[in-house]
Amino acid sequence: MIERTLAIIKPDATGRHQSGAILQRYEQAGLVPVAMKLVRLTKAQAEGFYYIHKQRPFFDSLCSFMSSGPIVVIALEGEQAIKRHRDLMGATDPAKAAEGSLRKAFGTHIEHNAVHGSDSSETAQFELAYFFNALELPQP
Ligand code: RTP
Ligand code: MG
Repeated sequence: MIERTLAIIKPDATGRHQSGAILQRYEQAGLVPVAMKLVRLTKAQAEGFYYIHKQRPFFDSLCSFMSSGPIVVIALEGEQAIKRHRDLMGATDPAKAAEGSLRKAFGTHIEHNAVHGSDSSETAQFELAYFFNALELPQP
């Protein structure tokens, strides 16, 4: 099944000028960008995006980090894109991420893990709509 998922290149990675290298990894993996932009979130916008984690102890720090610099948001399309993208990203903690994964290569800390990816079709729908309107996201 062809799916779409939201990828984010986080402020740690954009700050290290690794956006191009990470985009190349998506393309090499057959995850095709169908919409993309660079944005700088306010803290309130980051809180809206990560509302599901509101009760977690790391929520404040996560939202401060996500609003600390520019991010690149990308709609990726491909066969089983949600799971394939999660596999490409690797574990949340870069220290536990598999060899060859994006977080192993580009992450430095559990809270500075370079990339985000939707974790289900429901979250993909919410997250894509958070950043892209109907005109920006081409009809599948
Ligand atoms: P993401 O949503 O960013 O793709 O990451 P994920 O699914 O692998 O992890 P999730 O549980 O959704 O957590 C969201 C982000 O919060 C930070 N985090 N910090 N200090 C901690 O124990 C902790 N746990 C999670 C991470 O930056 C994670 O990406
Ligand atoms: Mg998550």
